[in-house]
Amino acid sequence: MPTIPIPSSPEHARRPAPEPARLPATSAGVRVRRADTTDLDALVAMEQRSFSSDLLSRTQYRRHLDSDSALVLVASDGHQHVLGAAVLFFRKGSGVARLYSLATLPEARGRGIAAALLEAAVAAARRRGCRALRLEVRTGNAAAIGLYERRGFRRTGHQPGYYEDGEDAWRYEKPLD
Ligand SMILES: CC(C)(COP(=O)(O)OP(=O)(O)OC[C@H]1O[C@@H](n2cnc3c(N)ncnc32)[C@H](O)[C@@H]1OP(=O)(O)O)[C@@H](O)C(=O)NCCC(=O)NCCS
Repeated sequence: MPTIPIPSSPEHARRPAPEPARLPATSAGVRVRRADTTDLDALVAMEQRSFSSDLLSRTQYRRHLDSDSALVLVASDGHQHVLGAAVLFFRKGSGVARLYSLATLPEARGRGIAAALLEAAVAAARRRGCRALRLEVRTGNAAAIGLYERRGFRRTGHQPGYYEDGEDAWRYEKPLD
């Protein structure tokens, strides 16, 4: 993930658009909901345990939680612990949403948590009227690439040296029609 600027204009400082507080549980018993400020510690911990570069800071998460151009989703099991998170960005006037980040805690992987978050991200982009969902993924991230391709994302481009540590990215897009 590249470093992204923190929106600072008043236009970006509005409250997030309403999202359902809690989405239906998936078949794997995973629940996905919109994150709030009580999730900040968990989100920062998730970031530090999931990514080695291009990390979102606590300040950036706080801004994203309070912005209508971002949607942060968290996944939990029956015990309410945050086990995974996704970050989506929307741009005013654009019909394309961007999945900026998707992560599951190492000890919770392989239980369908990322799949549930991705399903919720797609549904949220559809609810906002987007025609497509885009993302970038490290060219060496076979697990994530497989997850995206099996859920209808198609490779649309290559971005050499996209990440802070110099790794290339593939661009992917899923039409939402
Ligand atoms: C990639 C990642 C998000 C997957 O999370 P997860 O909760 O374990 O994924 P799920 O259990 O929902 O599995 C989703 C699919 O990926 C497959 N998968 C998961 N981990 C895998 C691995 N290490 N190798 C191959 N396939 C894998 C699953 O078998 C499943 O397959 P399906 O499409 O047939 O259902 C997780 O490994 C992670 O957080 N990695 C670090 C952060 C990252 O790379 N994020 C993605 C780029 S932003």
